[in-house]
Amino acid sequence: MSFVEYGDVIREGDTAIVFLGHDSMFPVKVQRGGQTQTRYGVLRHSADLIGKRYGSKVTCSKGGWVYVLHPTPELWTLNLPHRTQILYATDIATITMMLELKPGSVVCESGTGSGSLSHAILRTIAPTGHLYTVEFHQQRAEKAVEEFKEHKVGHLVTVLNQDVCREGFGVTGVADAVFLDIPSPWEAIGHAKAAIKKQGGRVCSFSPCIEQVQRTCQALAEHGFGEVSTLEVLLRLYDVRSVTLPLPDFGEEAGGPGDGAPSAQNATVTCKTAVAPKEMAGHTGYLTFATKSLV
Ligand SMILES: C[S@@+](CC[C@H](N)C(=O)[O-])C[C@H]1O[C@@H](n2cnc3c(N)ncnc32)[C@H](O)[C@@H]1O
Repeated sequence: MSFVEYGDVIREGDTAIVFLGHDSMFPVKVQRGGQTQTRYGVLRHSADLIGKRYGSKVTCSKGGWVYVLHPTPELWTLNLPHRTQILYATDIATITMMLELKPGSVVCESGTGSGSLSHAILRTIAPTGHLYTVEFHQQRAEKAVEEFKEHKVGHLVTVLNQDVCREGFGVTGVADAVFLDIPSPWEAIGHAKAAIKKQGGRVCSFSPCIEQVQRTCQALAEHGFGEVSTLEVLLRLYDVRSVTLPLPDFGEEAGGPGDGAPSAQNATVTCKTAVAPKEMAGHTGYLTFATKSLV
């Protein structure tokens, strides 16, 4: 298993996702002799996980069962240990598309944070691309290095422990795209420009506040970036439900009263429908995109 390559069988050292339901899953580091408690009883790694195929339904000691899933960046985002606020799949999907990321892309990112976005970038740019990610908080940078190694993507990423606003990304003229998720992105726009290839490339900055966006757009214009656009993506998830509705009563049927047909008065119809949520996830942040052109 690796986060950029599918493996059929669960092996020692893998990170597997134990799935109890859509709102209940967690990652486990598979270790010979290891045990994991679930509400359905204990999972014994040697007997219950190692050698089984990903996707298997595994019975726990109390007789209940779980699915064991292959890790993906999307599942990791939902299950990773939070060291910071993180980006979720809706924003990540938009960032990936708008930055035109693909296998072979070279990307600069700051800050690394909890590595939620980093894992998605790595999956997209593998097997030949590279991610340069900058994090000025030492423990977070060290933890990210450890996780990337554990997830077998260490060869695709360089983690730099420095201040991106003062010292930049540690590379010049190599990036196809730059992504910023820091409190003062406008201070890093000059370094973003320097990191991007001479032929040009894309930049994206994620900010929760509009005042941050204003300053970033100003800095982008001052550094000669074009095609500046800011957007926000809101996700609306629908629930599928069975609903029972009363049938309208259009008066007596042609047969007239007493013809044996059921009265429309109490008639109902049951059907499946998609119901919009009463509440939905609100604002995460604004995404500002821009292009550095050849001229
Ligand atoms: C919100 S988190 C990033 C989360 C990340 N995008 C993810 O999806 O997990 C912001 C990170 O940027 C780091 N940071 C803030 N300012 C920085 C700077 N000037 N240079 C480098 N890292 C910085 C913080 O330490 C923090 O870990």
